[in-house]
Amino acid sequence: MSKLIPLVSQLCVSEQQTWCEALNKSLQHHQVDARVCLPNELSNHQNALVEFAVVANPEPALLAKYPNIIWVHSLWAGVDRLVNDLKHKPIQLVRLVDPRLALTMAQACVAWSYFVLRDMLRYSQQQQTKTWQQHPVTLAQECNITVLGLGELGQAACAALRHNGFNVRGWSRSNKSIKDVACFAGDEGLTQAVSDADIVICLLPLTDETRQFFDKSRLMQLKQGATLINFARGAIIQEQALLEVLDKEHLSQAILDVFNQEPLPQEHAFWSHNKITVLPHISAPTSQSSACDVVVSNIVNYYNTGQLPQTVSYQKGY
Ligand code: NDP
Ligand code: OXD
Repeated sequence: MSKLIPLVSQLCVSEQQTWCEALNKSLQHHQVDARVCLPNELSNHQNALVEFAVVANPEPALLAKYPNIIWVHSLWAGVDRLVNDLKHKPIQLVRLVDPRLALTMAQACVAWSYFVLRDMLRYSQQQQTKTWQQHPVTLAQECNITVLGLGELGQAACAALRHNGFNVRGWSRSNKSIKDVACFAGDEGLTQAVSDADIVICLLPLTDETRQFFDKSRLMQLKQGATLINFARGAIIQEQALLEVLDKEHLSQAILDVFNQEPLPQEHAFWSHNKITVLPHISAPTSQSSACDVVVSNIVNYYNTGQLPQTVSYQKGY
């Protein structure tokens, strides 16, 4: 009898169906006797046999239907919501670690760093007032960028930024050694990591430690005139504090892809702020085909060896 793997999510039905089809195609390709299905296709008896599920930010109550579930595989890389929902349950959590996602994020970091370096916000504003005014050009080699978070995405971003000639520093919880990147760790390393940065790119996971990480005092630690890019999670930045430091011209601009509330509410001050670029959570979307390859290869390995891929630490929160 085929093993049944529910896809538990809040995606709309058509998206759920596309994911099921793509995952099943990949499972068939590996000749695995298993099928990904929608939760409502399973009887109570079948729910009791479920060992693991593929998930995309499901409502916690939806997972309670599976009394014997051992692990879940997220289709997204960031699992802050799931960590909170599952940390007191005997369910292991695997998040998406996908080289294509890392490359997508790395390219976004390069693209938006050039946006800052080549003054694109200023020229776009000048066009609105038909202003013909040239500003000095800076080379990537003259620009210091600090990447906060040196995990799957942060390390890929560092490599791509270095490849483009930027001077790169990195900061993480534990010490790292990355070619051509000056690495710093812990609270004591933060000042050294950011004090000279023209651009700071946040790729930290949202955890108890990083929630509201960028309060007024941390924002003031950044260099006068620096740019903050947040491609991680909105709640890492205190919104009011960011508005204050931008209005006081301590920071020159912010590029934000993630927000406390998404979609960003219509009345939110960020939309019309002349130093803020709002992006609709687009820096690194999950690619369905590469994510299916990663998830299915983890499933196949689990069936063949009983081994789970690397799981999220509920203690660390990522
Ligand atoms: P990883 O778990 O691979 O890396 C996290 C990094 O952050 C690690 O280097 C870790 O340090 C560091 N870190 C964690 N907590 C702290 C802390 N308190 N102080 C200093 N450093 C810390 O995550 P990914 O790189 O895969 O993803 C990062 C985040 O990007 C995701 O959690 C998600 O929120 C976001 N994301 C956003 C997307 C978008 O489209 N906007 C798309 C995908 C992800 P250490 O190495 O020492 O453990
Ligand atoms: C993710 C995201 O976590 O898209 O994958 O933010």
